[in-house]
Order: sequence, then structure tokens, then C-alpha cells
Amino acid sequence: MQIVETKTDLREVIHRARSVGQTIGFVPTMGYLHEGHLSLMRRARQENDLVVASIFVNPTQFGPNEDLASYPRDADRDVESMKAEKVDLAFFPKLEELYPPGFTTFVEIAGPMTQLLCGASRPVHFRGVATIVAKLFNLVSPDRAYFGQKDAQQVVVIRRMVRDLDFDLKIVVCPTVREADGLAMSSRNAYLTAEQRTEAVVISQTLTEAQEQVGRGERSAAAIIEMMTERIASKPNAAIDYISAVDAETLEKVETLQGKIIVAVAVQFVKSRLIDNIQIEV
Ligand code: PAJ
Repeated sequence: MQIVETKTDLREVIHRARSVGQTIGFVPTMGYLHEGHLSLMRRARQENDLVVASIFVNPTQFGPNEDLASYPRDADRDVESMKAEKVDLAFFPKLEELYPPGFTTFVEIAGPMTQLLCGASRPVHFRGVATIVAKLFNLVSPDRAYFGQKDAQQVVVIRRMVRDLDFDLKIVVCPTVREADGLAMSSRNAYLTAEQRTEAVVISQTLTEAQEQVGRGERSAAAIIEMMTERIASKPNAAIDYISAVDAETLEKVETLQGKIIVAVAVQFVKSRLIDNIQIEV
């Protein structure tokens, strides 16, 4: 595996691969890799000649009171994990490489899509995500880029950006990878104490229960949300940010469960803001 830190070195490898007709698969990450990230790399490995992964904790997607400074990092372990997945090229840019002094250009997806759900409590988040992903797409020029369904709103936002700004690539969405007890894997799980970790399983449990209730004929979003709210709020360390049933394509709230629905949840467990979701087809 080749490791590069500069845009110049990255472009050289990309150019060489392109000149011999290789296809490029790209997995953007913020590192501290777990099985969720690795599943994207595995899928990219199956479908492309050259697999590129980036590790960059992107400051513009963090709000002023969020966990940018404490975000977990382990570059050595990440390198070993990427080698094991046969990633060809790892991009580890320094902050100044992607945000040089005087950086003032941002990609902003307007409207409810970035204001709802996580956008409501994280107003600058999706602007930061879209900006860094657009920059990385320009640098890597992938044929396919891989994202996790765990960040359902991110997928919808990136798809819209790709469509609106004419990026010539395919977005591949991979299923959420979970711990044995159901908790969605996340770099932020590292902040949980043992007690919070035990409580946090309520998120995936209530999502599964929601799916089962819909299976039994429940069609009221309010009824599902009430059940989830009650169970999650009963955990002493859980502060609910949102529990919402939305249309899978537009992310707009639904009252009646019909068609392709996402039930999405964000819960603050003291230091750790955890998100999860489940897609239900009714
Ligand atoms: P990060 O949180 O590191 O996630 C990188 C990719 O891994 C995202 O596409 C995310 O959805 C996926 N992922 C995370 N946990 C997963 C899980 N349990 N199962 C499946 N996939 C999972 O998302 C970001 O970084 C950033 O916003 C980024 C896109 C890199 C832009 O900075």
C-alpha cells in the first residue's frame, strides 16, 4: 500500500492509474477505522482496479462546541487495517494541504435536506461534509465512491450534490455494520463508559422493535416515535436529540408510514452523540 500526504503525490498516482485505464474506487473516512469502514473498503476492492481511502478529520464539519479536538485518532492502526483490506493508496492529508490559509469556498446544499434531523442541531455540519467530499472527489476522480447507510442523511446530501454539480461517479451505499448486540459501529463509541455502552444498545433495539411493529401493521409514525422515546428516555445517560420517521428520498417527515421510510435517531450519551437508522419498506 502506498501512503501519500500531498495532493501532488495523490494526483500522480491517480493519473498513472487513469492512463492505463484502471477504474478507481474511493472510500472517504475520518479514521479510527472499524468494521463499518472496512466493509466499504472490501466492497471497493471487489469492484475496482485501484482502491483509494482517505483519512482526514475534517474540521469544517464540526461545530464550535463539538468533539473535533477529542475525535479519536490512531494512524498506525488505520494503516495496518487498510493494508489488510488491500487498499492500494491511503491519503493522509495534513490540515493545511486541504485548507490552506485564505480558504473561503464552500459547497452548500440548500433547503430542508440539510436543516432537518442532524442539520437542526449541527447547522454547519453538512456544508463541511459536502465541501470536503467535493474536494476529495475532484482530487481522486473516482468511478465509484462508497458510503455507509449508517449516515443516511449524509448519503442523501452527497447524492444531491453529485447530481447538482455533475460529478461523474457512482455512489455506492453499504449496509450498517453492527456490534454483536446490535449497536451500530462508530468511532464515537470509543467515548462511551461501560455503563453508557450497555444503555446505548437501546437505540438499535428500539429501531428493530419499530420495524416489528410496522410488520404487525402499525402505520402511525407518532405511535412508533412514542414507543421509542419512552424506551430510550428511560436510560439515565441518554438525552434524545431526535427520533423521526422520514421519507427515504426527501427526508421529509411523514405521519403515515407508507412507501420507503427511514426511522432515524440521534441520542447524546454524555460525550458521545450516537446516530442510527433503519429503512423500512411498507
Ligand atoms: P466517518 O464517520 O469516518 O465514516 C466514513 C464512512 O464510513 C461513511 O460513509 C460512514 O457512513 C461509514 N460508516 C461509519 N460507520 C459505519 C457502520 N457502522 N457501518 C457501515 N458504514 C459505516 O462519514 C464521515 O466519516 C465523514 O463525514 C466523511 C464522509 C469522511 C467526510 O469527512
